[in-house]
Amino acid sequence: MAEATSNQESKDYGIGVPVANPVYKLKGSNNYDWGMKDRLARVFDPQSGKTVMLAFDHGYIMGPTAGLERIDLTIVPLLEHANCLMCTRGILRACVPPTFNKAISLRCSAGATLLTELNDECIGVEIEDALRLNASMMAVMVAVGSAKFEALTIRNLCKMIETGNRYGLPTLGVTAVGKELTRDARYLGLATRVLAENGAQVIKTYYCEEHFERVTAACPVPIVIAGGKKLPELEALQMAYQAIDQGALGVDMGRNIFQAEHPVAMITAVKAVVHNGEKPEAAFKMYNEIKAAKKGGK
Ligand code: 5RP
Repeated sequence: MAEATSNQESKDYGIGVPVANPVYKLKGSNNYDWGMKDRLARVFDPQSGKTVMLAFDHGYIMGPTAGLERIDLTIVPLLEHANCLMCTRGILRACVPPTFNKAISLRCSAGATLLTELNDECIGVEIEDALRLNASMMAVMVAVGSAKFEALTIRNLCKMIETGNRYGLPTLGVTAVGKELTRDARYLGLATRVLAENGAQVIKTYYCEEHFERVTAACPVPIVIAGGKKLPELEALQMAYQAIDQGALGVDMGRNIFQAEHPVAMITAVKAVVHNGEKPEAAFKMYNEIKAAKKGGK
């Protein structure tokens, strides 16, 4: 207990030295409360302002996806290279060591699998469990443009944002994939803006070849891109480079990392592109060098 008497006299008031009031630089995030900013600072590296999120939540709709059959064997060795993990609570509890101690973007919407009709989702994980798991973001899929599921999934998003704001936990709005949904700048621009207008603090969407810079420009909060289906490694690095160059603040990449011939080399190369602005060709060279050096010791 503090003593009431004989304490050192307080005198270092820094009179005349203005109190620093640093701006929180992450796009659109300066007006959030401290807890929300702290969680976002775990997702987005405060030095580069960018993030490499490793996505391995595919099983919630696809079951044992190629490369994710044994997460303990294939994903755990990659964890140290990621800023943030995008996963389900089942896999987090079962396979991810709690000593990982970095950001988690927890998949909170859940619903139909590939076997029926994608995008028919509800809130599967409530905020209490997200907080219990020390998540840094809650991920909710939204099917903008789906005749059947648009309103339902926007309601899911708004509900999570509402509770997330109450506790300072950001919500990641995820634009859906679906047969009827296109992937051009017009659609992606509309979908990402709708999610941001509803209050999502971060948006995950897809890269498009034409006018992606319009998608990022019109979205007032950070956009991260999903990788999509497996591409040759150089093409995946080119996509990451172009996305960052055109205003994305990170990647949330799965198959193009864990299905690569050498996943550790690939995530290292992706990191160089995202955080250091490495050109895709140089990053691909790095990929090949790491792959060659580690051959046999995969
Ligand atoms: C799966 C997802 C994934 O998180 C997202 O698609 C990113 O993974 P990939 O880079 O493999 O597309 O939402 O349901």
